[in-house]
Amino acid sequence: MSRPLRCTILVFSSWYANLSTTNAPMTDQSSPATPKRKLIIAIDGPAGAGKSTIAMRLARKLGYVNLESGAMYRALALKAIDKDVSFDDEAALLKLAQESRIQLEPSTGGNRTLLNGHDVSMRIRERDVTEGASRVSIHPRVREWMVERQREMGIGGGVVMEGRDIGTKVFPDADLKVFLDADPVVREQRRMEQQKIKAEVAANVAADLRERDKRDRTRVTSPLVAAWDAIVIDSTSLSEDQVLERVEDLAAKLLTE
Ligand code: DC
Repeated sequence: MSRPLRCTILVFSSWYANLSTTNAPMTDQSSPATPKRKLIIAIDGPAGAGKSTIAMRLARKLGYVNLESGAMYRALALKAIDKDVSFDDEAALLKLAQESRIQLEPSTGGNRTLLNGHDVSMRIRERDVTEGASRVSIHPRVREWMVERQREMGIGGGVVMEGRDIGTKVFPDADLKVFLDADPVVREQRRMEQQKIKAEVAANVAADLRERDKRDRTRVTSPLVAAWDAIVIDSTSLSEDQVLERVEDLAAKLLTE
């Protein structure tokens, strides 16, 4: 199936969630000749499995845009906190989402998330928002809204989208689906190292991660599960470079078909 070419700037003014790609995606200079096909690559998996780093590095290699769908749930959770809306109130959360402008902006220093024009990239990583994102994401109507926006963003291809339901729900026909997993203890350790967590709070962070994991995997709507046709990579005993190499090989095969 041929897809329309992506525009450099995509602004869906009819939607409140925008993807602005004003910065051209970074291309790793060592990458091979520019591929002709613009793939949709889905990378799903639990927290701490290394999705974000792999998705970002892969997107750079291919000259694609890296879209972190979790940042959208995080932005909505932040808005709910700011507006004192309960994470359990589906109707109010949907209204908040419809009234918000959530932008994912790929940039050289890493992806930025803008909420109504404000850069919330750092704030959405904090503990209260992290928990809130997992809680707002259980609501079917919130998910429907998010999925629609995410489809709009990635439909043109040339995208590495990471999340929990990209291969199962957002892009069930994605060209490449990777489900990245790792042993829970290893994921917890990686998360600690990534966030430079001090020993005193390490136990809390591990407990949060386990709870969030359980919620993401057991929710009724679009639980975290590998798509039937996803390539499952267990990164427990693999380095970041080894995982990237495997995913790159898979993408390269598709691009030479
Ligand atoms: O990937 P992340 O940790 O930033 O995601 C935050 C939360 O958002 C996560 O707990 C589950 C939810 N999420 C989701 O339900 N579906 C996605 N595609 C991405 C994230």
